[in-house]
Amino acid sequence: MKDNVVIMAIESSCDETSVAIVKNGKYVLSNVISSQINLHKKFGGVVPEIASRKHIENIDPVINEALEEANVTFNDIDAIAVTYGPGLVGALLVGLAEAKAIAFALNKPLIGVHHIEGHISANYIEHDLEPPFISMVVSGGHTHLVNVKNYGEYEILGRTRDDAVGEAFDKVARAIGLGYPGGPKIDRISKDGDEESIDFPRAYLEEGCYDFSFSGVKSAVLNYINQCNMKEQDINVENIAASFQNAVVEVIVNKTIKATKDFGINKVALAGGVAANSKLREEMKKACHKEGILLTYPSPVYCTDNAAMIGVAAYHEFVKGVRHNMDLNAIPNLQLGNRI
Ligand code: KG4
Ligand code: ZN
Repeated sequence: MKDNVVIMAIESSCDETSVAIVKNGKYVLSNVISSQINLHKKFGGVVPEIASRKHIENIDPVINEALEEANVTFNDIDAIAVTYGPGLVGALLVGLAEAKAIAFALNKPLIGVHHIEGHISANYIEHDLEPPFISMVVSGGHTHLVNVKNYGEYEILGRTRDDAVGEAFDKVARAIGLGYPGGPKIDRISKDGDEESIDFPRAYLEEGCYDFSFSGVKSAVLNYINQCNMKEQDINVENIAASFQNAVVEVIVNKTIKATKDFGINKVALAGGVAANSKLREEMKKACHKEGILLTYPSPVYCTDNAAMIGVAAYHEFVKGVRHNMDLNAIPNLQLGNRI
């Protein structure tokens, strides 16, 4: 095999059009992200139809920018990687059609990547991390506690039974008037609040269970706000944000640490948009330090959706010989470990 493997990766599963050029599954030569947040803001969330249309407009300029920034041409690319699920079907199809067209025209291999596998793989960029490890994936659409047994080999230990953690952050943010996407805003204003001021519920579910539930804490916040309004009491948004964040982070940290003990694994990797949360990073750091566990998390830019993480995940598939055909389709509810 060639010494250097250069992969062009495309990510368009939600509201970011991103293209990256990644060398040897580690070196990010470029990672261009065109965010549509401003377009969706006024609707309070991502509008799928608008997302698809915007991806179509963005994809070619983003590809050109990624090539230029990496100082490479199409001829230098060894394979084309693309997110094929899970995500919004119309949005995924834009990236997939583009990836197939490029792979076909250049006669280069096509590698489809699972979006969550990408989030987990973001940890390989800045750290010398190797499986096995436990990954806590916390994003806007997913909350998975995963035993990463090897590259591309995942055992899902637990998942959310209702809202994803990022979704709960966004809904609570909306209820206290912070706008979309609320996660980073809750993170910011919590620093000025008292996290012990309101005792929101922690859902641990059945004994020994790795699943999560965030709809209860979200409803508790909404009820608390309604009660304050009925009593004509002022609400302190900083205290609500900090107390909500504290309740959510406590459950995530405790379940992750439990998994490391149960499986005898001393490495934890946080992944997904909410892994950018400063309270989660801080509490996970403290807990891991106490237990002698090695913790990694990506820089914020590699936590939220980006194509570099897709290029990293694809590299490990590329070296194993995984290739996809031109009939690869977008799978909106693709399961982790479900390779086709
Ligand atoms: O991974 P991601 O970019 O997209 C999905 O695959 O879902 O995650 C986006 C989610 C949003 O819900 C956003 O509010 C949340 O990540 N998020 C945060 C922070 N930064 C992004 N939540 C809490 N604190 C943050 N600092
Ligand atoms: Zn994501």
